[in-house]
Amino acid sequence: MIHGISRAKKFNGSPKIPGDKSISHRGLILGALAKGTSEVIDLLEGEDVQSTARCLRALGVKITKKERSTFIEGIGERGFQQADGVLDCGNSGTTMRVMMGVLAGRPIKATLTGDASLTQRPMKRVSEPLKLMGATFELSRENYAPLTVRGGPLHAIDYSLKIASAQIKTAILMAALCAEGTTRLTGEIGSRDHTERLLPYFGAEIRATESEISLKGGQILTANRLRVPSDPSTAAFWIGAASLIPGGTLELENISLNPTRIGFIRALISMGAKIETELTQTNPEPVGKVFVQNSALKGIRIPEQEVPSLIDELPLLAVLATQAEGTTEVHGAEELRVKESDRLEAIALNIRAMGGSIELFQDGFKIVGPQKLTGAAIQTFHDHRIAMAFSIAALVADQETTIDHPECVAISYPTFFETLKDLTQ
Ligand code: S3P
Repeated sequence: MIHGISRAKKFNGSPKIPGDKSISHRGLILGALAKGTSEVIDLLEGEDVQSTARCLRALGVKITKKERSTFIEGIGERGFQQADGVLDCGNSGTTMRVMMGVLAGRPIKATLTGDASLTQRPMKRVSEPLKLMGATFELSRENYAPLTVRGGPLHAIDYSLKIASAQIKTAILMAALCAEGTTRLTGEIGSRDHTERLLPYFGAEIRATESEISLKGGQILTANRLRVPSDPSTAAFWIGAASLIPGGTLELENISLNPTRIGFIRALISMGAKIETELTQTNPEPVGKVFVQNSALKGIRIPEQEVPSLIDELPLLAVLATQAEGTTEVHGAEELRVKESDRLEAIALNIRAMGGSIELFQDGFKIVGPQKLTGAAIQTFHDHRIAMAFSIAALVADQETTIDHPECVAISYPTFFETLKDLTQ
């Protein structure tokens, strides 16, 4: 299937944005570990979150849905069941990496696998610290899935993170919950902090400062009721479109305004975008409204320390940079090469296909705008964020753009194309 998109004459609306993907995974997993039945409201219905639910169900966790609520009967002091077959994590890096940590200290054996993209993504970065805690892992080609974990008694570690990855951080914290002693994390711990915020919400004691996170082992979580805010990484596509399209306006409610997630909004404001936010809730997650009005954009240099807080939005930021006056430059984003696709290559290939230009680095890119884009055949590499970022590029391009494998948007935003149509009609 190929989806065609043409230049937008307008862009206005107040769409309801689906639930946050990162918080949805954590809601399911923390609920599965807790004692009692948790209720998660507005869980994202995307395929990645379904991958987490599928793995948990295979391990004996009962998960049911009624209207907007998902109920999870947690294992508490009981263990997981030995799964019958292989645990299929689909396209979801968060499912695989966090489940590695969840399983590391549980007395069962499990094999995790995924699709063609996930089985090419590095997993040693997670198995390495978990092995130091006492778990046993067998990885394919020493770094990849399919991989097998044999959980066992764990001991706490002091570990300095080398990569600012919330998936690695969360995996270690999940293992630390059942390790003997207090696990301490230092180094690159500034990635999205949903796990640190949600663990206390599910009854755990955790100390998290800017320089250190510590968690004492042997804690059993307690069930809770969690409302999932809307995903700022999903909202970003509409925030970007409203900024670009003449006369564009957007009003959003219930968006996660977690500071570790909204580097994209901060960057866009520095580029001259007219964006206002209004906080309506702070606990367990900051949530609020976002208002956007079209305005001229100028290029900026993204500070490297901001990269983790906008890592998933960089394909979209590259698209916006083609329309901004001056130079936009990003460094310190080498992680983009090991996401659902090599996103740096995918960005460059598609910008060039649309007649734009970009200088690519091993860890980022430089784009000098404004550039005229022409509709082209976009190659998504089955990567949801590439499909959505270049759908926004199509809205400001001459002639029609086609998106290959458009169904990949279902990973995080199943109704993306319907909403795109509503907002531009
Ligand atoms: C996620 C962490 C990020 C992000 C991914 C979701 C999470 O990955 O790119 O979409 O929910 O923890 P890394 O931890 O690899 O940076």
